[in-house]
Amino acid sequence: MYMVLLGPPGAGKGTQGEKLKDKLGLIHIAMGNLLRETVKKKTPSGEKVRAFMEEGKLVPDGVILELLKNEIELEKEGFILDGFPRNLSQARKLDEFLDKEAEKLDLVINLEVKKAVLIKRLRGRLICSECGKVYHKSKIDHSMEICKDCGASLLQRNDDNSDIIKKRIEVYLEHTHPLIDYYRKKKILRNVQGEGTSEKVFQRIMDLFKEKKIA
Ligand code: AP5
Ligand code: MG
Repeated sequence: MYMVLLGPPGAGKGTQGEKLKDKLGLIHIAMGNLLRETVKKKTPSGEKVRAFMEEGKLVPDGVILELLKNEIELEKEGFILDGFPRNLSQARKLDEFLDKEAEKLDLVINLEVKKAVLIKRLRGRLICSECGKVYHKSKIDHSMEICKDCGASLLQRNDDNSDIIKKRIEVYLEHTHPLIDYYRKKKILRNVQGEGTSEKVFQRIMDLFKEKKIA
């Protein structure tokens, strides 16, 4: 199965992507995580990527497509894409890529969350400095701020500050929101209420499969 998780910053794409990966046995390709790995290498191209991300802007398509190509080639069974596509030109590239492989996108899940909730989630997010696992300040033991999986320290993302969160939401509305219509017209879009606990949201996604609301 080839699927995309769509939604604004903080909608829960990463959180749900990890749950779905375990449940469906697919790979979860999170473009933001791939970019943060690139930045860590401190190469000249990594430095350019860092500048775009720290300003909350989209990284140029050329860099994104190159990163994606390397990941997708590793896995032919299917994938869950999170953070890609993020504009119409990336969406068309994805269609072309799947077309060449005689495949097609099966499902786009659009997580719907109010702006005030997004901001609260992003301000409180912590990520593991090593494996990137996502946490929220309200749900961790503050006497032991380390990753449950690998024991590394938890950090706030550089782009999770108020000004950049605002910018990222603006960029989402201008460039990524139009994809909702793009996928609706292709009849592969499913809107999912992204508020409530992450378990509840996951259940709503699973219900789509049960109710055979998926093409
Ligand atoms: P990226 O890392 O993809 O960031 P984003 O799209 O802004 O989304 P987030 O990762 O912030 O949110 P999320 O939806 O994954 O939410 P999460 O599950 O973490 O991209 C970063 C940057 O990279 C971009 O700004 C851009 O510069 C660049 N980039 C990436 N892809 C690109 C592309 N294709 N083209 C060009 N540039 C690109 O949850 C958030 C928080 O909420 C967490 O703390 C979590 O624990 C909590 N939470 C989640 N679900 C719930 C729930 N149901 N209830 C309560 N809390 C919850
Ligand atoms: Mg994410």
